[in-house]
Amino acid sequence: MLPEITYLDAPLGQVHTIFLLEAKDQAISVLQDPALVDFARTHLDLNDGMAHLNMISEQLFLVAPPKETLSYNDALEWLRRKGHEIQKLLVKYKVKNIQVMGLTPHGLHTLALAEGLALSNYEFLKYKSDKTSHALHSISVVGQNLVAKQVEELSVLVGAVFKARDLVNEPVVYLSAEQLSLEIAELASTHGFSFRYMKKKEIMEHKMGGLLAVNWGSVDTPTFNVLEYKPTKAANAKPIVLVGKGVVYDTGGLSLKPTPGSMDSMKCDMAGAAAVIGAFVAIAEARLPVHVIGLIPATDNRPGGNALTPGDVITMMSGKTVEVLNTDAEGRLILADALHYAEQYEPQLVIDLATLTGAAARAIGKEGIVYMGTADEETAALLEEAGAETCERLVRFPLWADYEDYMKSDVADIKNIGGAEAGAITAGIFLKHFTTHPWLHLDIAGPAFKEGGEWNYRGKGGTGIGVRLLYSFLSRLVA
Ligand code: BES
Ligand code: ZN
Ligand code: ZN
Repeated sequence: MLPEITYLDAPLGQVHTIFLLEAKDQAISVLQDPALVDFARTHLDLNDGMAHLNMISEQLFLVAPPKETLSYNDALEWLRRKGHEIQKLLVKYKVKNIQVMGLTPHGLHTLALAEGLALSNYEFLKYKSDKTSHALHSISVVGQNLVAKQVEELSVLVGAVFKARDLVNEPVVYLSAEQLSLEIAELASTHGFSFRYMKKKEIMEHKMGGLLAVNWGSVDTPTFNVLEYKPTKAANAKPIVLVGKGVVYDTGGLSLKPTPGSMDSMKCDMAGAAAVIGAFVAIAEARLPVHVIGLIPATDNRPGGNALTPGDVITMMSGKTVEVLNTDAEGRLILADALHYAEQYEPQLVIDLATLTGAAARAIGKEGIVYMGTADEETAALLEEAGAETCERLVRFPLWADYEDYMKSDVADIKNIGGAEAGAITAGIFLKHFTTHPWLHLDIAGPAFKEGGEWNYRGKGGTGIGVRLLYSFLSRLVA
């Protein structure tokens, strides 16, 4: 459930409260009663910086981050995770409304704690018969060096992340490519950005050979989605284009996914699209002064009908020919057409997000995003900073010219797979053939979806990775 997140000028008395302390001694002024202070101090020491005081009518929490040992970004993440821990306790005690009170001069610390609380509140109940929510109804935030605008921005972001998670968690039986377009249309009118989409006929007129080929085995139409947010006072003269992989389900196609269980979570193969959509919701809602265009090629990847076969040669929208040697390397085929489509905008920067390779996930796990590209160092550094602050961290991989050899084909201009090695990079090398503008490719295959248990405030299932990152990056870019 999306909690109501509100800013308070002054704290409320006698309500469930989390006190964020700068120093443990502040427990004295908060609690006064020496026995309670003693209890809190002991627990802050023994319980990793958190003390819970069950006062029956009020649940009180004291939080004190270990300040000497944590870097700025690590402290923010520590607080988000502490917010998650406390959210679990609040659910246990059936608390529905909580106040976060920052007794620290670091307003962003207070915000991070609230962020962790709020993001932990996500539930996907659509397909449960019992739709009873156990989440918080409201989070009020008050604190030093904190203004209403920051709390409003947090509320917008949490809503956008939840939207992205919802889309990722929707199974393909509901979320076909066309349904994805209908969902975007609704979000566009609710949140205030423009949107149009093409179906198969128009996609054929555009000769998007990659998107069409991946769709050959499907009974559903592919869609090509164009989102735009163009404020009157945009800080950028040329647009930023955000491209998201929208494979609503990836069976692998005729090169059917071979490993047992490896298909189970493949409804997540549109997490790149979800990140772009979530970012648009946040950008439009917060009226960020940035001109952005979103491109989402969407289809399922299935082995039916006239499915694309290994050995086929297809002609992409750009005119380049591709020998398809593995139909499970489909993401790059649809992204290539989107990257080429982006050329018409003469963009300042193109960023694509995609659950593109198992190799990226194997290289660094769910802990980070593998990225690469041609954009300059300054832009890359800005993105990495945004990644570090949001804890949607990035690691840059090389695009050395040597890797070009991996993609040479005997019959076509290039083939769609490299060798056994450097799989995340060869996917990037493939994409590089289709863009001439400054470009960054983010492979989110690792962190996009959490199978099994919960992953702190990121929850289980779709994580919504990329939304907070893109928003933070674009805010920095136009600052
Ligand atoms: N959608 C997958 C990548 C993926 C794997 C996403 C795990 C999320 C979790 C992608 O389309 C794919 O199948 N890639 C292949 C490429 C290979 C055939 C060159 C892969 O990584 O195995
Ligand atoms: Zn695949
Ligand atoms: Zn895929």
